[in-house]
Amino acid sequence: MTSAATPLGLGVLASGRGSNLQAILEACARPGFPARVVVVVSDRERAQALDRARAAGVEARFVNPKDFPDREAYDLALVRELEARRAGLVCLAGFMRILTAGFVRAYAGRILNVHPSLLPAFPGLAAQRQALEYGVKLAGATVHVVDEGVDTGPVVLQSSVPVHPDDTEESLSARILVEEHRLYPEAIRLFAEGRLTISGRKVVVRAAGRPGAGAPASEASL
Ligand code: GRF
Repeated sequence: MTSAATPLGLGVLASGRGSNLQAILEACARPGFPARVVVVVSDRERAQALDRARAAGVEARFVNPKDFPDREAYDLALVRELEARRAGLVCLAGFMRILTAGFVRAYAGRILNVHPSLLPAFPGLAAQRQALEYGVKLAGATVHVVDEGVDTGPVVLQSSVPVHPDDTEESLSARILVEEHRLYPEAIRLFAEGRLTISGRKVVVRAAGRPGAGAPASEASL
């Protein structure tokens, strides 16, 4: 748990556009927000996310996967970048690589991801297209803790949006993105305030101002 005086350091990993990063940066700029971005790392040199970081005065690092012999070595380099800046929470924001077990272990319970579906429905790529092809009437966004699977970790927050009969992948994605940008900073705030506890598959969210109930040893406080 951190106080307003010592905000939680966020390391954001992003490969592309960076609109979720932007939402996080804007949240961090609000008075009293208990976190700040200490570094943005990308596997793509031209990622717009890196430009957004620089524009906000945040360190932007391109770490080239081609400079490493395998995924394990690459992820170890990422962990070093994050630890060197004392990132206490890693936020995946459109990071197009699957993390190795070594990375997930190094930051166990301290990695969040945002996914454009109501998990466990439609994990993986093109979740919005999957939802349209399936014919669901509700879609949405999920912020979850990252484990060693793909989009399988415990759910922190979710929000649904309607699917309209004339939706395209673009229109549905835009509607979901509004929720992503709202949920992700909220999840980060809850984490930074020490209000999240993982209990098996469940993430328990403690109400503001209520002291912890003394979690059993089997429960890990995030
Ligand atoms: C978002 O839809 C997010 O849910 C998914 O990748 C997309 C990233 O968008 N994981 P952006 O780079 O944050 O704009």
